[in-house]
Amino acid sequence: MLSNFLAYLQFKLGAAFDSTGHAISDSSWSAQLQGSERLWMLLEGTHVLTLMLFAGSILFVDLRLLGAVFRTTPVSKVTDTLLPYTIGGFIVMLLTGSALFFANPLDYYHNIVFRLKFVFLIAAAINIFYFHYCVQANRAAWDDQPRPPASARRAAAFSLALWIGVIVAGRFAAYDWFSCDGAQGFVAAAAQCSERAVTLAAIEPELAQ
Ligand code: HEM
Repeated sequence: MLSNFLAYLQFKLGAAFDSTGHAISDSSWSAQLQGSERLWMLLEGTHVLTLMLFAGSILFVDLRLLGAVFRTTPVSKVTDTLLPYTIGGFIVMLLTGSALFFANPLDYYHNIVFRLKFVFLIAAAINIFYFHYCVQANRAAWDDQPRPPASARRAAAFSLALWIGVIVAGRFAAYDWFSCDGAQGFVAAAAQCSERAVTLAAIEPELAQ
């Protein structure tokens, strides 16, 4: 179902039709973005540059929580100073990431590495909520401590590991090493490559050859 919608986005949305009523997939909005001379690169460039702002601000908050940097500065001061950069960065990453996804939605959706990126993203989001509502609840008691308690250090270590996972998976999703073309076994199953094949077979008669 989602696969069919993504195939519609990738091949048909915005496409011109030939004289027989078949959609010319190369002219869809997705294909135009994918083939654009500058727009795609501008989006990816912004995505990657904003990553420095986003991941850089998270890195220093996590290192402070681990007791590795700014040990004499209260945790609240470090987080209050850096949080606006993290939030701003995340919004830009979300917008540019969604636009990049739109350039090739069906293939990203059926890419095991891209899926892994989202598993890490969701786990990182859960970790943020856990930190916010559980660990930080008694922050006043350890705000000034050079080395925050184990629960805060654990959440910071998880945060670092999960964001590194998002970044590494994001980097590897750029290659088609694990794409459905040629995927077998676990990789094919985890990316639901057979569903992709069914979706492509269903939409093919609607497209100009
Ligand atoms: C804050 C969270 C995110 C991080 C840390 C992140 C990280 C990355 C990284 C490191 C790359 C590789 C760029 C390169 O060197 O080629 C990338 C590319 C990409 N990201 Fe993200 N990303 C995030 C959020 C998102 C979201 C929310 C989406 C989609 C809704 C997304 C979609 C993409 C796409 C489509 C690419 C291009 C892959 C390609 O080159 O084919 N990202 N991201």
